[in-house]
Amino acid sequence: MPDAPQFNPTPRELDDLELITHGALDGPFNAPGSVVTLTLPDDVAAAATEAGEVELVDPEGLPLARVSWPAGDVTPLGTPAYGPFRRLYLTPAQVQEQYAGRTFVPVTGPLTHGELAELASAGPLVLLALVGSGTPDLSAVALLRATLAAAAQLPDAAVVAVPLAAHGDPEADHALGVQVVGAYAGTGRVQALGGPGAGGSSSTAENESDGEEFPDEIAAIIDADRPAPDAQGLVLFFTGLSGSGKSTLARALMDRLLETGQRTVTSLDGDVVRRNLSAGLTFSKQDRETNIRRIGWVAAEISRHGGVAVCSPIAPFDATRQDVRQYVEDAGGAFFLIHVATPLEECERRDRKGLYAKARAGVIPEFTGISSPYEVPADADVRVDTTGRTIEAALDDVLAALREAGYLDLATSTAEPTPLRVLFVCTANICRSPFMELTARRLAGADSGLHFSSAGTHGWNDKPMDAAMVEVLAEGLEAGDFRSRTVTRELLEEADLVLTAEAAQRGYLLEDHPALFRKIFTLGQAAEAVSRLEPGLTPTEVVERLGSARGNADPALDVPDPYRRGPEAAAAAAEQIGRLLQTVLPALSGHRR
Ligand code: ADX
Repeated sequence: MPDAPQFNPTPRELDDLELITHGALDGPFNAPGSVVTLTLPDDVAAAATEAGEVELVDPEGLPLARVSWPAGDVTPLGTPAYGPFRRLYLTPAQVQEQYAGRTFVPVTGPLTHGELAELASAGPLVLLALVGSGTPDLSAVALLRATLAAAAQLPDAAVVAVPLAAHGDPEADHALGVQVVGAYAGTGRVQALGGPGAGGSSSTAENESDGEEFPDEIAAIIDADRPAPDAQGLVLFFTGLSGSGKSTLARALMDRLLETGQRTVTSLDGDVVRRNLSAGLTFSKQDRETNIRRIGWVAAEISRHGGVAVCSPIAPFDATRQDVRQYVEDAGGAFFLIHVATPLEECERRDRKGLYAKARAGVIPEFTGISSPYEVPADADVRVDTTGRTIEAALDDVLAALREAGYLDLATSTAEPTPLRVLFVCTANICRSPFMELTARRLAGADSGLHFSSAGTHGWNDKPMDAAMVEVLAEGLEAGDFRSRTVTRELLEEADLVLTAEAAQRGYLLEDHPALFRKIFTLGQAAEAVSRLEPGLTPTEVVERLGSARGNADPALDVPDPYRRGPEAAAAAAEQIGRLLQTVLPALSGHRR
């Protein structure tokens, strides 16, 4: 006969095991049709079938029981020796001996004023706290704390812990509860709370003079065990492809959080974790799972202590993300999943670290998105695509979702609002676009919260502004310092809005930077789109909506080039630019009615 395999049961199965070994539940562990079952993983079940039995051990490997397999008869080998309030976990036999003649009261939640009043004259009591896994109101340890606090307010009450787990079937659970409570009570009287037949706690607080449902001591225990969402430990888990913007978003969110000083924060960034906690792991499926589980384990511990963990690994597999969610929830924390859904084409186009090129060339194997899958999460709390958007705009979506869920409110940040950046573009950056830049600055005023600059698609760098255009500039506008420059990727990326003089320049920019289509318009096209937007939008909303409100970049809306066409052409261009800016700027500075 081969050795019996060892198996560490789930908390629910451990609760069942304890009741069976204590004699509070009879019958075998895995009788067909019974709610009390033991589920073995396939490999353990196979070994158990071969050995005819399986040995159940506690999380530290201490043997608890031998179970014949597949019959399911249980032979006790030991009892769990640790755990908070272990001294309250008596066997039914011990209870009947110690507490003969008392009245037994099953307790599944914190006792209210009304329930305590009901019990005050019920004679000597045993409060049977049903603390098995899956009980909804309070954690097991807090239910015991609350029940002890309740007993202290009664004339003569003892507390006993009963590990009665819930199995998800209310009827079967109720039948099981009756059987187990009966085993502890023996011949003693059982009194249900809230009148005959009603189990658990019921609210009878209405007639209390102070109007509070629970005595202060018990209310404090509930608050500590079930903190409000904004005081609960929190794991912010960013998942997405390499280059999607996870780390940048996570960093920006951390900075906001640190600025408020409300919470303690730990960053578990994908790349950083790979260099320390997960040093030596590869990118095989198995090692990625190990990597994510390590991150999840640490994050769950942080949440247990009420902290905030900000994680930003790729985490491509759904099952591993689910495991992390479970770790965190088991630790009493909240798990908040952010899918940074920037599409592969955009991540590959950015290719900041040059990894996609190497992956395409076959130099890096199993690269997520190229030669290894990314499983899109169906359970994300918020989804953001960073394509053509500023980090601030993408972060706003995350912050709004966090605020809505009640976890964090970072809206009232002390950070200075960052000004909206508008870049004007024409061909050489000596005539139309500098005129736009200078005129916009004059029209918007110093405290508009807007930042203006300009550049050319085919400029010569460092040229002064065209003399004819300078002529028509209104007095007081200083064009003397102006020098032309050629547009660059950086200039385009840092701008919130890029406005060109002609459709041809827009087309030229989009050819090289197709992902920026949501923020590059001709000035005429932008003016048209602005007049289509509903009033009352914030400047950021205006920028975000322009993309969908815009019509075609019709060349009829262009500002034609007045360069070397004399003072009349210059004056006409100046007039047209002024008119278009008068439409666009009020919306961008939040003054549009
Ligand atoms: S995960 O799959 O285990 O979640 P992780 O977030 O740690 O991935 O990846 C960290 C970083 O490793 C990525 O951002 C990327 O820069 C780099 N990297 C190196 N090799 C690979 C690969 N084969 N697939 C994906 N990323 C890789």
